This record gives sequence, structure tokens and C-alpha cells, in this order.
Amino acid sequence: MYEEKLISGKEVSAVLKVEISQKVAQLKARGVHPKLSVIIVGENPASLTYVKGKHKDCAECNIISDNIALPESTTQAELLEIIEKLNRDKSVHGILVQLPLPKHIEEYAVINAIDPAKDVDGFTAVNVGNMNIGKDCFAPCTPQGCMDMLDYAGVDICGKDVVVIGRSNIVGKPVSVLALQKSATVTICHSKTKNIAEKTRLADVVIVAVGREKFLTADMVKEGAVVIDVGINRNSMGKLCGDADFDGLIGKVSKITPVPGGVGLMTRVNLLKNTVKAAENAEK
Ligand code: GUN
Repeated sequence: MYEEKLISGKEVSAVLKVEISQKVAQLKARGVHPKLSVIIVGENPASLTYVKGKHKDCAECNIISDNIALPESTTQAELLEIIEKLNRDKSVHGILVQLPLPKHIEEYAVINAIDPAKDVDGFTAVNVGNMNIGKDCFAPCTPQGCMDMLDYAGVDICGKDVVVIGRSNIVGKPVSVLALQKSATVTICHSKTKNIAEKTRLADVVIVAVGREKFLTADMVKEGAVVIDVGINRNSMGKLCGDADFDGLIGKVSKITPVPGGVGLMTRVNLLKNTVKAAENAEK
């Protein structure tokens, strides 16, 4: 059976949720009740689902969450005004603006209007910069989730070859930085990389985040490699699947994360971790 090879997001996130709930209880005992404000503009169905999940997670760990649902027609100025108000509100510890935003709103300007001390997504230039130089910061939730899974599985990447496939600002770039900080030798592959398989075959750990079903196949990894699958795709049957050919890889890898039940759950739990951290920082 392959169960011992699985790094289960369900298992890791459950452990972390216990820790988070304990921290929330301690904060509450000191008179601080962690609160996350989520802003969603428009009615993108995927975004609505993600936001619903975020509120459910908060409730589970006794974190207050409020939902600010704005119409598609909201102007950038109106959105910035709401963020400014939340920045000033001492009862709010974390602010999350669900992406994507409607085309008429400039995402970069909106994200950077968030007080970096409340930027629980870790998307502001201040947090990205601090993360890059190894200073205290809010690490973005998905990359940190990948690191948490490796930690939990006892995979020490110090001195190991880590190949990241994908160079997005949300996953590929930041997860590469986090791996580098753990003293891994990091290679970043992307759509213009000449021969990706040549690189991944040398990797001790492959982190794949390209958004393409069965992108990473068994012939692309060495025996005993660890695979972290960040992809969330729908296959032709409408079933949720990752970027890795799980069935092909399972016989060859030493560890692999499933989809569903993998990195996605870790993204969610890291938002809670960051919100609690924001509340703890605000107390100081
Ligand atoms: N849209 C898809 N993923 C994310 C995320 O992690 N944070 C935000 N704010 N929006 C998203």
C-alpha cells in the first residue's frame, strides 16, 4: 500500500489547527480576539468558493471573520477607502482581498494599500521584500504550506536539490525563496526552460505549480524523490487533480502530496496562522 508515502494535507492541517485554536484561546484570555476581514469584489464562482472556505476555517478555530462583498462595479477609489478604514480599525488583525479583481481595478495598487502588519496573504511589496532578505514577515500561504508539509514529513532540504516548476509571484518565486532560506540548492523551471525533465531528474524534491494535469510524470523524477503538487485542475471527467501524474509517480517517489487533500488545505491553514500572528504582533 502507498499510504506511508502520502504527505496528507488533512493530517498536517489538523495538527496545525489544534495549535492555532490553542493560541486563539490564549489571546482571547488576554482580551484579544483575532479577526480577519475578507474583501471580495464581484461574483467569480471560484473566488466565492474559496472565500466560503476561509470563513469556515476561521469559525473552526474561533477566529472572527467578516465578509465584505462588493459589487463588480466597485471603483478602485471605493475599494481603497474600505481598505484604509480596515487599516485603522484596531479590532481587525488581518485583511485579505480575494484575487482576481475586476479588470478595471489595479491589483498591485490595492494589495499595497493594505497595512503590511495586516497583510496575512503576504502579498504586499513590504512583506515580499522582507521575506526575500529573511526578515520576519507574513510568508505567503501556499509556499509556507509546502514548507510545512516537508517539515511534517521529516524531509530536511538543507543541501538538497530542490526543483521548482513555475515562476508565479504567488507560488513559484516565493517557494523558491523559502527553500533557499532552508539552504536547499534551488532550480526554478518555467515555460521557457529548455529541458525540464533533465533538471527534475536530478532533484531530491520537486515542487510543481504549473496548473496542468499530469505535467510531472514518473520518467521525470529519480527513484525516491519527494513531490509537492501545488496544482489544482479539473480533468476531462470534471474530477479535481493536481499537476503530478499521481498514479504513475506513486511507485517511484518516497513521498508525494495528494490532490485533493494536499497543499490546498495547507494554504487555508496558513491564512489562519498568519491571522493569529498578526493578532499577537498587534498585542506587542
Ligand atoms: N486567489 C487565489 N488564491 C488566492 C490567495 O491565496 N489569496 C488571495 N487573496 N486571492 C487568491
